[in-house]
Amino acid sequence: MPAKGATSEMIEAPPKEPRELKAEGSVLVELVSRTFQTKRGPIQALAGMSLRADAHDIVAVVGPSGCGKSTLLELICGLQAPDSGTVRAAPAALMPQRDLLLPWLSAIDNAGLALRARGASRDEARKTAAPWLERFGLTQFGHTRPGELSGGMRQRVSFLRTLLAGKPVLALDEPFAALDAITRQEMQGWLAHVLVSEPRTVILVTHDVEEAVMLADRVVVMSARPGRTISEIDISLPKPRRRTDAHVVELRERALAALGADT
Ligand SMILES: Nc1ncnc2c1ncn2[C@@H]1O[C@H](COP(=O)(O)OP(=O)(O)O)[C@@H](O)[C@H]1O
Ligand SMILES: [Mg+2]
Repeated sequence: MPAKGATSEMIEAPPKEPRELKAEGSVLVELVSRTFQTKRGPIQALAGMSLRADAHDIVAVVGPSGCGKSTLLELICGLQAPDSGTVRAAPAALMPQRDLLLPWLSAIDNAGLALRARGASRDEARKTAAPWLERFGLTQFGHTRPGELSGGMRQRVSFLRTLLAGKPVLALDEPFAALDAITRQEMQGWLAHVLVSEPRTVILVTHDVEEAVMLADRVVVMSARPGRTISEIDISLPKPRRRTDAHVVELRERALAALGADT
């Protein structure tokens, strides 16, 4: 099991034959439990957690801090194994909670890291990444290092790196949590737009219930640690959605109530 905060292996999950679903892009987590052994005793992160996503579903996962959301994503990406229960998932790429951009590499080289990991030369990786930078509004920043990019730009580079890993499933761990409110809203709109032209199965972990309702087809609400699904809410509203839409507001309230019911 990789240490928390490990870098290289968090960029893309190594495909492991037995746990891969052949059906393109689906994810199945069934009654999964996961306990960490620590110096201060065992910490049970997940207990009987279940979740499913079919190809191109966008499933948001909300839950209180420490309820096992990041652990769940690492299980889906094959970076950890469950103690019990089943995880079957198509190959999945993780966008980790911290962006983990390498400060000494330019935006374009950070974006192309997953391609380099798969054996592409630097020039090949740049050639593949360049048109994407343009699509992501980053043309002029290809040779800029992460330290000089805005928070929103860093997240776009980080997302692009995840996308270029070429996996059918994207596991996004609180991708916009560190951004200010306005940038976060812009980025949510941007992500919704990108996923229309680049459909993927997405497991989006967030603690922002509104973000979940704006972006997802289904919201999975988790209990406090040890985490398990306590509620699932279908969001079958047309996209793009407006925050002020009465249905959006109502579903947000429902998700908040489900979260609150557990505390
Ligand atoms: N590698 C680890 N070693 C020990 N404890 C861990 C490890 N990873 C996570 N935990 C613990 O498991 C619980 C769930 O963690 P995490 O999945 O990061 O929750 P979340 O992402 O919902 O905040 C927390 O109590 C956390 O401290
Ligand atoms: Mg987390």
